[in-house]
Amino acid sequence: MSDDAALLMMAKVLEAQKPKAHELKDAPAFYRNMETVLDKRRMDQTMLTLLPARPVVDFSSCDILSLSKQVHVHFSIFPFFHLSKEVEVFGERSGLLRMAFMDELAKNPNFVLGSSGSRLMDGNHAYVEELEKEIAEFHGAKTGLFFDSGFDANTAIFSVVPQPGDVIVFDELVHGSIHEGMRTSRATAKRPFKHNDVGSFHEILTHLNRSLPSISSGTSTVLVSIESVYSMDGDVAPVEELLQAAKEALPLGNFEFFIDEAHSTGLVGPQGTGLVCALGLEESFAVRLHPFSKALGSHGAVVLCNQTIKTMLLNFARCLIFSTAPSFPALAAIKGGYSLLKSNLGQMRQESLQPIVRHFFKKILAHPTYIRAEEAKILTIPLAKGWEGRKFLTHIVPINHRGLENHLLAAHCQFAGYCVWPIDYPVVPKGQGRTRVIFHADNTFEQIDRLVALITEWAELMLQRERLGAEPLMAATEGVNLDWLTKVVTTSSSTMNEGLHYAKEVEVA
Ligand SMILES: Cc1ncc(COP(=O)(O)O)c(C=O)c1O
Repeated sequence: MSDDAALLMMAKVLEAQKPKAHELKDAPAFYRNMETVLDKRRMDQTMLTLLPARPVVDFSSCDILSLSKQVHVHFSIFPFFHLSKEVEVFGERSGLLRMAFMDELAKNPNFVLGSSGSRLMDGNHAYVEELEKEIAEFHGAKTGLFFDSGFDANTAIFSVVPQPGDVIVFDELVHGSIHEGMRTSRATAKRPFKHNDVGSFHEILTHLNRSLPSISSGTSTVLVSIESVYSMDGDVAPVEELLQAAKEALPLGNFEFFIDEAHSTGLVGPQGTGLVCALGLEESFAVRLHPFSKALGSHGAVVLCNQTIKTMLLNFARCLIFSTAPSFPALAAIKGGYSLLKSNLGQMRQESLQPIVRHFFKKILAHPTYIRAEEAKILTIPLAKGWEGRKFLTHIVPINHRGLENHLLAAHCQFAGYCVWPIDYPVVPKGQGRTRVIFHADNTFEQIDRLVALITEWAELMLQRERLGAEPLMAATEGVNLDWLTKVVTTSSSTMNEGLHYAKEVEVA
């Protein structure tokens, strides 16, 4: 990304933070009232805004295996595609998923674009049923049901499956879509346990078993909700330990496990079948969710379950009943993604992530600035601790900050054409700024070296601020305003200096 593009982007973000309601004194109350609500976000500097797509080195997108984006292809490793001629024509500008998708279109030349109705009426075609079956078999499940998105699937699962008397026990860091589903669920109670903490989980189950007759008598069930790899922390659920704790705390066995495999689909286990398959625990999970929106590079999701749960969802999930079934192009992209996972190419891409993440940890931990900055608590990378002892390294590596300084790191990287995003409350707990680095199959060691250089350059600037006696930049939720941008003392990075200066001018103008 050029400096201009980065500055424009920052200007757009800052523009979005300017209060507006006062300009609308004569506007209809309908719009003025909404702008007043939006002003609350603007005043907290938390207004969200759409930003233009731009060419960047990707350390942020969900396209983990780099299947969807444009890649440099080596024709010799594509023998399984029928469209080898077109591959040559597209050359270096083609993405792998796009080729697999075109292949699928070519195999179905008479495809109909629209599905023509909901699954329960005209939208249930042979192609969707066969693909559901194929995907369920791939993941070793009894059956599967498609949803338009992982978000829809989670809201459906948690609003439909728990019955009165049941209790949902969930990891405190589960995704917002699970919370959305729980909000409308008929479960008698919902209890969080501390993130990945088996002791806290055991304690909650034991308490429920003592205090709720429906649980201690076995007439109702505890539904346990976890994720395989946590989206903001990048750590893996201790699945076997949690299962063991449930067996101990609920000796009647009235518990069922639900897992969201959004960040392990395509990345963990044989051919990317997921964490549950990697552990051989298919029979221990009542529900497994596999969104196609991350490593598979497209969108939609499948819920893997048995026929009873599938029938419940078909009968009560409002987003299925009242919405049109997926169209052929959406399904063909999903099928193309799975054909890539099953190929050697998919396997190679999955495996290539391990040396990439290893290289990052090695480089950053050996950097003298990182060591000093960590001592000064300017940043921490929790997953860097003990990385050498872990058999499997996840592609999500969060950097924790004391507050808003994550915005400065993200801006610094983006000015250099490297995309990482700052993450704030409510996505992470209040007061914790975070920068989420996501590694991709197509990231090169050179790009990682540059990323490490950018992070440590930024850390050096933060150390200089500290030496000059500046306060740490506090979280937006604590009421600071845009002055934080100008308070930053930058000395060695001209792009960052210019960027912040320019951004301030835009804000004032
Ligand atoms: C853990 C988790 N579950 C579900 C979703 C939602 O998936 P989708 O993007 O397919 O709606 C996400 C996406 O951010 C996620 O991280």
